[in-house]
Amino acid sequence: MAEFSLPANSVVKQGKLFAASEGVTNIKRFIVYRYDPASGENPYIDTYEVDMDNCGPMVLDGLLKIKDAMDSTLSLRRSCREGICGSCSMNIDGRNTLACTQSIAEIKGDVKVYPLPHQPVVKDLVSDLTNFYAQYASVEPWMKTDSATPPDRERLQSKQDREKLDGLYECILCACCSTACPSYWWNSDRFLGPAALLNAYRWIVDSRDEAAGERLDDLEDPFKLYRCHTIMNCTDSCPKGLNPAQAIAATKKLLVQRKL
Ligand code: SF4
Ligand code: F3S
Ligand code: FES
Repeated sequence: MAEFSLPANSVVKQGKLFAASEGVTNIKRFIVYRYDPASGENPYIDTYEVDMDNCGPMVLDGLLKIKDAMDSTLSLRRSCREGICGSCSMNIDGRNTLACTQSIAEIKGDVKVYPLPHQPVVKDLVSDLTNFYAQYASVEPWMKTDSATPPDRERLQSKQDREKLDGLYECILCACCSTACPSYWWNSDRFLGPAALLNAYRWIVDSRDEAAGERLDDLEDPFKLYRCHTIMNCTDSCPKGLNPAQAIAATKKLLVQRKL
């Protein structure tokens, strides 16, 4: 197998090669971004030759194999291993996605793994999502009501109104969409980004919520909402198949409609 080498002009330098044991023939090469801000060293790329005869099918399986058997210093987040918790999001083969649902076999050539783009790195594949979570919290993602709670009853919703939440409530806050959005890269201090905006819309259209007007007032801002320029990377990258771009467009439409 040819030795992997980075382009001569790469800003990230080549690190170590962790070769497969002798006799292992079914190898997939993982090219992994490494960075430890505490070390004072620049980021670098390590290469791991993973024995695919002893590895599960997903990229997360490969990374855990590396961590367990080849290099315990590699840091990454994961929990559920089934696309539910959103914690294993990273950039794999040039796309933001979940390592636990991305099949290794679907990747042609080496498996290139980087942290989510344009976020500070805590270590290796672990991004600092403090700002992302703060933006989610800023849309107040809970039901707000003024009316009295129905005695001994839940706040009911028709089947049709419940269906309006489909495609919204499934968001797992993985940040794949927001960190794929160029507008978010350049303005993440003020543009809320597609994930927070999809979740804002999820509450705006919930028939039980009584704060839609207040929520729309808060979004009517040149940066928070209108920095979305319909680039569509968000929808393209969502591993849950959601459509944040559509939710943003629908929010903009509501803002126009309420002026008429
Ligand atoms: Fe992740 Fe999709 Fe939610 Fe964005 S909309 S945070 S990509 S699940
Ligand atoms: Fe960004 Fe998606 Fe809008 S990629 S610009 S949030 S349509
Ligand atoms: Fe939970 Fe991947 S480990 S989504």
